[in-house]
Amino acid sequence: MNIQSQKILILDFGSQTTQLIARRIREQKVYCEIHPYSISLARIRELQPAGLVLSGGPCSVYDDGAPLSDAGIFELGLPVLGICYGAQLMIEQLGGRVEKAVKREFGKADLSVRSTEGLFAGCETGGIHYQVWMSHGDRVEVAPEGFEATAVSGNSPYAALRHREKPFVAVQFHPEVAHTLIGADILRNFIFGICNCSPSWTMHSFIESAVASIRAKVGSSKVICALSGGVDSSVVAAIVHRAIGDQLTCIYVNNGLMRTGESKSILRFFREKSKLRVVDVDATEYFLSELQGVVDPEVKRKRIGLGFIKIFEDEAHKLGQVDYLAQGTLYPDVIESVSFRGAAPIKSHHNVGGLPEIMKLSLIEPLRELFKDEVRELGLELGMPEEAIYRQPFPGPGLGIRIMGEITRERLAILRQADVIVLEEMKKSGWYRKVWQSFAVLLPIQTVGVMGDGRTYENVVAIRAVDSRDAMTADWSKLPYELLGIISSRIINEVRGVNRVVYDISSKPPSTIEWE
Ligand code: XMP
Repeated sequence: MNIQSQKILILDFGSQTTQLIARRIREQKVYCEIHPYSISLARIRELQPAGLVLSGGPCSVYDDGAPLSDAGIFELGLPVLGICYGAQLMIEQLGGRVEKAVKREFGKADLSVRSTEGLFAGCETGGIHYQVWMSHGDRVEVAPEGFEATAVSGNSPYAALRHREKPFVAVQFHPEVAHTLIGADILRNFIFGICNCSPSWTMHSFIESAVASIRAKVGSSKVICALSGGVDSSVVAAIVHRAIGDQLTCIYVNNGLMRTGESKSILRFFREKSKLRVVDVDATEYFLSELQGVVDPEVKRKRIGLGFIKIFEDEAHKLGQVDYLAQGTLYPDVIESVSFRGAAPIKSHHNVGGLPEIMKLSLIEPLRELFKDEVRELGLELGMPEEAIYRQPFPGPGLGIRIMGEITRERLAILRQADVIVLEEMKKSGWYRKVWQSFAVLLPIQTVGVMGDGRTYENVVAIRAVDSRDAMTADWSKLPYELLGIISSRIINEVRGVNRVVYDISSKPPSTIEWE
């Protein structure tokens, strides 16, 4: 989908903050894309960017095997901003010298601006210090010909540089992180002042071009979409529906592992409010029998995933000839980021990833260019209610991975009641939107309690609430003791079969958000 002709390309050298650069640029309403540092010159020309950003990265430019871009990027006539490693690479490739710094700079540093042209337009020189975020062990010792220092810091005589005639600028620090207080100004100066972009990438313009491109691709064919009630699939359904109306059929599979009333409210919302054509299948019996006696988390996940594919496929066949599957793939899933670490698989995620090949369907992925927060913005622009947009993530395998041990109807009923209480109290106290996720987990053990004068020997429920930006890392939420107290006493008093509630105080890593 060609969303915008005016774009910035970010060449990724493996920095942890490459995606942040993209977000910060998009916040200025300028479209940008991340590509591996090894992108060819021909491909860059084809993409016709207004400018390039070279990201930071974990290597040193003089390391054996350090990632190098084609030095021809400096011959394309494009503005280039180098950040940290990207800055050092620019300096090396254009004839300067980078060396290991005697004193490494990590964390906050004070920057003094020497020239208020270009990147530092709007800043002041002469004794004013700006807080920036450094993270490097190398520094520029000799600037290439034609370059001059535009800012210095305690340990960097070249904390920022620019070419006197060409649109090449470089910063040793990270303008994309919040600790660099003038970071947004620096990026704005680059994209508007140096690349001459205009702030035209809005959700409104995104919808117009996405709708046009879905219509052009689909023609008069039929499209299906797996609805889960989650934000991504809901927004996909809404935008595809706007483009092609009833050529879209959504399929909702109730796997019997949903929260109390969830299936009903999802269906009511899509059918009555959004006027979508929705086929719903109650496959509770099928899933519960597939899960009978299963205790291993990975076996649970695989059975639920495969069961979903089977049911979805059966329903889709009943619709006759269908050519496309609309799917909520987001930008972080498609970026070919440069990773210098091997990642071991931790959990098999349940999603619709396997469907297109099995069913020989072509994909429509209207959210491929968007980050999660942009998807939310898009949903609001499409008229979806805040309640649906700011819903906490709920995993595909549902309550199945929040019941430790075997999943039975009785245990599902216990967890559902506890879960309702957690949600009610989180919402009532205003904490629901402050945390990333909050939920109850049913443990496979019983403990002794006393109720009235009698001994009880019943289940334990754990409460999990986490703060996170992207679910890659998470910290346990510091919920007020009063709130935890209310949740605990309500669960113990109202849910038959529970006599103990505990709070999970583990962060990710080393724990994960879900317990299975
Ligand atoms: P973990 O437990 O891996 O979870 O820390 C990270 C985030 O992913 C969600 N999650 C899933 N989402 N299908 C999904 O769609 C799954 O199989 C799945 N498993 C975990 C989890 O709720 C958290 O937000």
